[in-house]
Amino acid sequence: MAHLTLGIETSCDETAAAILEDGRRIRSSVIASQDTLHAPYGGIVPELASRRHVEAIWPVVQEALTRAGVTLAELDGIAATAGPGLIGSLLVGLCFGKALAFARDIPLVGVNHLEGHLYAATLDHEELSFPFTGLVASGGHTNLYLATAPGVYLLLGRTRDDAAGEAFDKVAKLLSLGYPGGPLIEEWARKGNPNTVRFPRSVPPRGSYDFSFSGLKTAVVNYVRSAKGEGTNPPTPPLQKGGTGGFDVRGAAGTTLDPGLIADICAGFQEAVVDVLVRVSLAAAKASASRRLVLVGGVACNGRLRSKLTERAAEEGVQVYYPKPSLCTDNAAMIAAAGYPRLLRGERALLSLNADANLALGLT
Ligand code: KG4
Ligand code: ZN
Repeated sequence: MAHLTLGIETSCDETAAAILEDGRRIRSSVIASQDTLHAPYGGIVPELASRRHVEAIWPVVQEALTRAGVTLAELDGIAATAGPGLIGSLLVGLCFGKALAFARDIPLVGVNHLEGHLYAATLDHEELSFPFTGLVASGGHTNLYLATAPGVYLLLGRTRDDAAGEAFDKVAKLLSLGYPGGPLIEEWARKGNPNTVRFPRSVPPRGSYDFSFSGLKTAVVNYVRSAKGEGTNPPTPPLQKGGTGGFDVRGAAGTTLDPGLIADICAGFQEAVVDVLVRVSLAAAKASASRRLVLVGGVACNGRLRSKLTERAAEEGVQVYYPKPSLCTDNAAMIAAAGYPRLLRGERALLSLNADANLALGLT
């Protein structure tokens, strides 16, 4: 008999539920995005997020069951995200999971969201085996792990300031492009030249796998200010390029940035982030025995990151694995996948299990 796991994920701004068969086969995966709710604010408003989760959680779980053709009585286990994330958001999914587990006498495990992201790669790559090096690059984290065995992780490096996705979101906000910033910057970057504006890369000292994106973000802020005539130093590269038309991005003083320049800034910024992520994660993968590198988290959707990493990894003899974009961003199938081996081993969470906004993954 197949094992049916219900995954529940509400750590940030997506209400998600999924039914997974035997830890691998996705029978259904439902994601209710809150992007339009938060877009006017250029970032997530935590209180709005938790309230929307409360409204969405039961319909989303019901939809996941219906699409999978599974009843509550047929569930063998529930895996719900316990952290890290926004505490109000986390509590909704975890309490829902606990209530369902209690009412229906179904085994429950709490899952670390970051472990879920790593497990997303196993859903699209059956051949992927431990050990592997894993980069989780999302809106909240840029963490590099050595995944030794299921449940055994070593944190090799992390961002010392902004997460990679956070940098994408902040730069998009600065340029008034919208939210979430990653996909929008990628779209603009396609029309731009990555070499027009060269932004700084922060590369860690030898032996460290830490990241830093705040210097890059500040460089973009300063560049944009100068370009709008708000700073003291004029930007070095040429300002005027053929415009792409139809766009009007105004500075605080009402200055308009040329759309061609916006595209070049996006391309230059994206290239700098990609460059650092590729360099550091490849260095870690090369230092490990397995030479397998997993790329997950929302930023792993980025096409430029995927193509550059694929190209550089091939040169270095490293095998890269990334799941399809819908499994890179937050979803509940990855949470069910991470919870499944533990449910199978007979692990059970107590109803006293609490959500932890700063839940850590792995040894440091
Ligand atoms: O993993 P995720 O869905 O949620 C978190 O756990 O944070 O990641 C969301 C982040 C956002 O910052 C978003 O801007 C970024 O992933 N992102 C991207 C792309 N798609 C999403 N960043 C760069 N390029 C993309 N195509
Ligand atoms: Zn995430």
